[in-house]
Amino acid sequence: MLKTHNCGELRKGHIGQRLALAGWVNRRRDHGGLIFIDLRDSQGLVQLVFNPELSPESCDVAKQVRNEYVIRVEGEVSLRPPGTENPKIPTGEIEVMVLGASILNSSLSLPFYINEEEEVEESLRLRYRYLDLRREGMKKNLILHHQVVKFLREFLDSRGFMEVETPILIQSTPEGARDFLVPSRLNPGKFYALPQSPQQLKQILMVAGIEKYYQIARCFRDEDLRADRQPEFTQLDLEMSFVEEEDILKLVEEIFTELTKEVKPEFRVISPFPRLSLAEAQHNWGTDKPDLRFGMEFCDFSPIALNSDFSILREALALGGVAKGICIPGCASYSRGQLEELTLRAKSQGAGGLVSLPISSHPTHSISTKFLSPSEIEEMARTAQAKEGDLLLIEAGDQEMVNQVLADLRHEMGRRLNLIHPDLLAFCFILNFPLMEWKEQRWQPLHHPFTTPREEDISLLDTSPDKVRAKHYDLVCNEYELGSGSIRIHERSLQEKIFRILGYSPQEMREGFGPLLEALEFGAPPHGGMALGMDRLVMILAQEKNIRQVIAFPKTQSATDLLFNTPSEVSSDQLSDLGLMLSPQKIRKK
Ligand code: AMO
Repeated sequence: MLKTHNCGELRKGHIGQRLALAGWVNRRRDHGGLIFIDLRDSQGLVQLVFNPELSPESCDVAKQVRNEYVIRVEGEVSLRPPGTENPKIPTGEIEVMVLGASILNSSLSLPFYINEEEEVEESLRLRYRYLDLRREGMKKNLILHHQVVKFLREFLDSRGFMEVETPILIQSTPEGARDFLVPSRLNPGKFYALPQSPQQLKQILMVAGIEKYYQIARCFRDEDLRADRQPEFTQLDLEMSFVEEEDILKLVEEIFTELTKEVKPEFRVISPFPRLSLAEAQHNWGTDKPDLRFGMEFCDFSPIALNSDFSILREALALGGVAKGICIPGCASYSRGQLEELTLRAKSQGAGGLVSLPISSHPTHSISTKFLSPSEIEEMARTAQAKEGDLLLIEAGDQEMVNQVLADLRHEMGRRLNLIHPDLLAFCFILNFPLMEWKEQRWQPLHHPFTTPREEDISLLDTSPDKVRAKHYDLVCNEYELGSGSIRIHERSLQEKIFRILGYSPQEMREGFGPLLEALEFGAPPHGGMALGMDRLVMILAQEKNIRQVIAFPKTQSATDLLFNTPSEVSSDQLSDLGLMLSPQKIRKK
């Protein structure tokens, strides 16, 4: 037997036991006579002691090994001598006196330290991902991912959900990104799409009578990448029949409350999850992903600015804009340089400038006090519930720009002033989305074309589609969109009508959605669901800032895999099997 125990599981209760261990040399210290090795396996570390008086042959082996060599030892567990215990590791009270040792494999010298959590350039980490994953931080994240999936499967099973796998080679389903396409050798000139999500398939499963479906589903989207986006990611995909919005929101709230208790009991969840309309979220936080871990809600100064002598504010309002602000606690004494830096930040987000208004009984260098009367300043302070010593930051102009600039400043100042509690999970639901918006000269769904309109708004579809509200909900956590879902259209005629408004021709409807449209005519039950971004969820729970930190083999920002160097070229034979030819111009451009 190569090993009888795991390194990390050994405790005082094992003292006196003979055992065999196998693992990696995490660190070796040669003290002249005695040699100490920290041996590491998937369960943790234990200290080995090589004593020439106990086993001279083992000491010869220990002298040859280097970091990350794979070794096997036999030995006996003993109590560490008083004063040498290591409280930082769970096995720190004991050590293993080695009686026999052998080298199972050697290791080249390492491109970076594995036994230290020092900063290493990410491309090097991705190139040697198998070494990176040996490091403590990455291992912890993978374990967390595993625990999350395990909890979800057990929880959903206990609620009568069934996991059904759906295919990866499918017909395209629009989710707002480009598809990854796979050419078919057996059907030359034809392509599969990789699923952006299993949306149509899970709806068809409802027609098939699976009342409660879930899947830990792989999704693929060819879109520009960001810190919280990968081209290939995982969703917890849910769909249920005979439900209304409320049933789904309740279930999702319960899943996340229970999940947090199970995998991160030290985290606090705001309960019940606040429910905000999209308009409210945008008005008060300037975004559809408000971070509710701290205050600093926006205040609307438009009514005050409208009658003031401050021309910058007044003119912005005259052009149909707004004047809004945030109150930064305790920053009235910000220097000219600090304010200038905030102005530059606002400009980088599209602002023409930034008005700062210190709430202070002392003279300040703020020019806004010249243009605003004392009573206007007082009213602004009252609106913002600002106290002596606070700083108001005010932005005026087009609503979208003002929201973007203030949302960015709010988040930055919340971070700088340490207002964001690190162990708080501030979930909230965003509701009352419009069904569609006029964008790039056509109507486009805010979620996807399968979302049902509110019954009371259906009559507006013909006259003002922008006024139709959808049965669509998002789940937001901290500053991230964690999930999206909706009640679906379950009648063919309404689904066809929506497709027509969205500009699909009868042929496009048939080709893209024929099977779903047909299925809707065979007793499709009312149904709805949601999909939650698993990688994003684990990223938030692991308190990481980048999704790559929680995925074993992620792609870079430019969608490449540095371990296998993909995407890569293929042979001309492969291309010709598929009936494909590459365009030299397209390739040269890249
Ligand atoms: P949606 O497109 O909003 O909805 O996706 C749901 C959730 O999936 C996660 N997500 C991503 N995570 C990492 N990288 C990406 N590129 C990426 N894109 C999306 C997000 C997002 O909230 N079929 C619908 C759901 C439904 O209606 O049931 C859908 O996929 O956390």
